[in-house]
Amino acid sequence: MSRIGVVCLLISMCCCDLSLKRNTQRLNTRELTVSTSKLKLCEKQKNVCVMSASDCLYTASDGKPEGLSRSDMNFMNTSCHFLMDEESLTCSWIQLNDIRSINTFIISKARDIISCPAILSIVSIFNLTIKSVNLIDQREIFSDVYKVNLSEIIQAPQPVIRFVNSTDTSLNVTWSSCVHKITQCQIRLSAASWREMFSVSEVSKESLYIINDLQPYTEYSLKVSCSYGFGQWSKWSSEARATTSESVPIAAPLLSYYLILDRNSGTQQLGILWKALDRSDARGLIQGYEVSYAPSKHLARRKTIHTSDLKMLVSVMSEEYDVTVSAYNSAGRSPGRRLRVNAALHHDVPAVKGLWVSSDGLFLKLHWEVDVTAVNVSEFAIEWRSSSDVSSSGWMRVNAFTFTALLPDIKSGETYSISVYPVHEYLCGAPVSVLADLQHGTLLDLLGFHLITLTKSSLTVKFVWKETQPNINVLYYKLVLKGKHQTRYLTVFPHKAQELFNDLQANAKYTLYIHGETVSGNFSTATLDVTTPLLDYDEIIKCCVPLVLLVLGFGFFSVLTKTVCKQYFFPNVANPGYSLIGHWLLNAPFEENSKICVLRLENVFTVEQQTEKNIIHVERRMSSVAEDEVISSKICTTSEGTTHRSRSDYVENISGPSNPPDYNDLPVLTANLDYVHNEEIICESVRCPLSEP
Ligand SMILES: *[C@@H]1O[C@H](CO)[C@@H](O)[C@H](O)[C@H]1NC(C)=O
Ligand SMILES: *[C@@H]1O[C@H](CO)[C@@H](O)[C@H](O)[C@H]1NC(C)=O
Ligand SMILES: *[C@@H]1O[C@H](CO)[C@@H](O)[C@H](O)[C@H]1NC(C)=O
Ligand SMILES: *[C@@H]1O[C@H](CO)[C@@H](O)[C@H](O)[C@H]1NC(C)=O
Ligand SMILES: *[C@@H]1O[C@H](CO)[C@@H](O)[C@H](O)[C@H]1NC(C)=O
Repeated sequence: MSRIGVVCLLISMCCCDLSLKRNTQRLNTRELTVSTSKLKLCEKQKNVCVMSASDCLYTASDGKPEGLSRSDMNFMNTSCHFLMDEESLTCSWIQLNDIRSINTFIISKARDIISCPAILSIVSIFNLTIKSVNLIDQREIFSDVYKVNLSEIIQAPQPVIRFVNSTDTSLNVTWSSCVHKITQCQIRLSAASWREMFSVSEVSKESLYIINDLQPYTEYSLKVSCSYGFGQWSKWSSEARATTSESVPIAAPLLSYYLILDRNSGTQQLGILWKALDRSDARGLIQGYEVSYAPSKHLARRKTIHTSDLKMLVSVMSEEYDVTVSAYNSAGRSPGRRLRVNAALHHDVPAVKGLWVSSDGLFLKLHWEVDVTAVNVSEFAIEWRSSSDVSSSGWMRVNAFTFTALLPDIKSGETYSISVYPVHEYLCGAPVSVLADLQHGTLLDLLGFHLITLTKSSLTVKFVWKETQPNINVLYYKLVLKGKHQTRYLTVFPHKAQELFNDLQANAKYTLYIHGETVSGNFSTATLDVTTPLLDYDEIIKCCVPLVLLVLGFGFFSVLTKTVCKQYFFPNVANPGYSLIGHWLLNAPFEENSKICVLRLENVFTVEQQTEKNIIHVERRMSSVAEDEVISSKICTTSEGTTHRSRSDYVENISGPSNPPDYNDLPVLTANLDYVHNEEIICESVRCPLSEP
C-alpha cells in the first residue's frame, strides 16, 4: 500500500511539474483598448469609471477591492499608452494561463469624476485596475492598481512611409505622420548584415530625409518612428524596401594566365582566367567582360572580345602579348587590368592532382590534392559546365588551404565537366577536369589492377580506369594491402596510374584488393594474393657471379697446378705403344693378303715455331674385294686454346712410356716404320693409291 502511495505521489508530482512547465511555456499577450465613448460613470461611486456596469459593484472607492484575489502572475509586464488623436488608452500585459477571459478597465480617482469620456485627455492622472473574468469558472482576478499619467504614456501616431527615391549612393525617404505636433523622428536603415539609426529633428506632417554614402546596387529596408518630444515613441511604420541604382564598377578583375603548348601541331594557346568582382566593387550586375589582346610589338593588331564567362582561350605565337580585361554593368565599364604575357616563356604552376567528385545529395563534392613542394598557390578556381548548356558555366574560388568544394545548383540528370585551376598571383596552372553527375559522382570506374613488379620488399600495381557510368557513387577508392601483421590503405585517384608499396617483408604472404567507400557502406573487389620472394633477382646475380667466378678460378688453378706438377715432377716419357699412332704402327692389324702401302708422308707436320700448326694426316687404305675402306684421321692443334702443343710436347707424348696416350683418334702405325725421330718429326701424308676393284 505504502509503495503504491509513493508511486502515486511521484506521478502526481510529475504531473504538477508538467502542468507548471506547460503554464510557464505559454505566454499569452493580452491587449485591451478603451476609447472615451466606452467609459461610464458608476451610479453609486462618483469617482469610478467602468467599461461594464457590473464592475461597479465590487470595486472599492479607492479602486482597491478588499478581499478579492489579485494575481501578479496574470498581469506581467503591463504597459500602457495613450493615443491623443484617437482618444484611446491601450494596455498590454502577459498572462501565464491560456484561459479565455473577459478583460475590463476600472478607472478611479480619489476625487469625484465629472465626466468619464473627458478623463482620457493629455492632462489626466488616475488609478487604473485591470479586471479579468475567467469565462469557464467566472472567477474574477484583479491587477495591481497602476498610477497613470497620460502625458507620460502618450504615444505619437504611427507614421507612414510615402516613397523612397534612390540614386546609386543615396535614398530619399518621404513619410507622413498625420499630426503637426510631431517634433522628432528616427529612421532605421538595414541592409543584409547591418542596421543604422538616423535621427530627424526637423519634421512636420510630411517629412523628407536623404540618406547618403550608401553602396550602389544594394537593397535596403527602412522604418520610421516619431514622437512629440515627450511621452513614448510611436510604433514603427511598416517596412519599405529600396535598392540603390547601379554604378560603374570601381575595380578591375584580377587576371591570371596559363599557356598550353600542343607539341603535335606546334600551336600554343593562352588561357586567361579572371576573378569575378566582389559585389562592393562590381556596384551592379556585371553583364560581361571585355577582353582585348595584341602582340606587344604590333598593338594595332589588337582583338577585342566580349564574353560573360570568366575564362578565355586564344591562340598565340611565341612572343609577348598585351592583355587587358575590364568588367561592365549597366552603368559603365570598370578600369582595365593589364597583363603582359610572354608566350615564349613557360612557367610552372603544376596542375592539381587526384580530382575526384562524389555526389552529396543536392551537391557535387569535389576533392583534389596539390604538390606541397610546388609554388605557393594563392587560391583555386573551380569551373563547372553542364553538357546540355555549354555556354553557361559556374565559377567558384576557394582559398589555398581548401582542397574540397561543394558545387551548388547542380541539376540532376545532367553531366558536368568540372575543372580545377591552381592560381598563383597572375599565373595559374592548366586545368584538371573530370566528368561527373549527381547520380554517379565521377564518371570513371576503377576496373581493377595488375601487379607490375614484385620484389622481396616492395610491389607496384597499375590501375585500370574506365570512363563510364559507375553502378554506385563511390566516395573514395582505396587500395588495401593486407599482410599478416598489418593492413595498409592507399587512396587511389585517376591521375595515379600506378601505386607502390614499400617496406614489405621478404617471403611473406600479402593480399591486395580494392576497397570502395560509398555513403551506404563499403565494398571490396579485385582481390590478389601475392607472396614476396626471399631474394631479389639482382641479389641472386650478386650472389652467384662470385660463386661462378670462384669455381672457374678454382678450375683454372687446378689445371695450372696439374700442368706445373706434371712438367716439373712427373715429366712424360714418350711411349709410342701408348699412343694410337704408335699402337697402330706397332700392331698392324692387316691380313696377310692385304697390301700395305704407305706411299708417302708429306710434310704434314710443318715444323715452324711461329705458326705451330701441326697436322698429322694419315690415311690407311685397305684394298679388299668388297669395298675400299678409308680410315683417315687428323690431328689439328692450333696455336689458340688449351689444345696447343709445342713440337717437343708432341714428341714426348708419343714417346713417353708412363703416360696414357692423349691422341685417341690417331690410327695405329706399324712398328717397322720409323717416322718418329727424336727431336724432329717427319710427317708425311700416307696415301694409298686407289686400287681398282
Ligand atoms: C518583462 O519585462 C522584463 C523587464 O522589462 C523583461 O526582462 C522580461 O523579459 C519581460 N517578460 C516577458 C515575458 O516578456
Ligand atoms: C490612487 O489611489 C491612491 C490610494 O490607493 C490615492 O492615494 C491616490 O490619490 C489615487 N490617485 C488619484 C489620481 O486619484
Ligand atoms: C526627394 O524625393 C521627393 C519626392 O520624390 C522629391 O520631391 C525631392 O526633390 C527629392 N529630393 C532629392 C534631394 O532628391
Ligand atoms: C611559400 O610560402 C612560404 C611561407 O609563406 C615561403 O617560406 C616559401 O618560400 C614559399 N615558397 C615559394 C615557392 O614561393
Ligand atoms: C568504411 O571504411 C572506412 C575505412 O576506410 C571506415 O572508417 C568506415 O566505418 C566504413 N564504413 C562502413 C559503413 O563500414
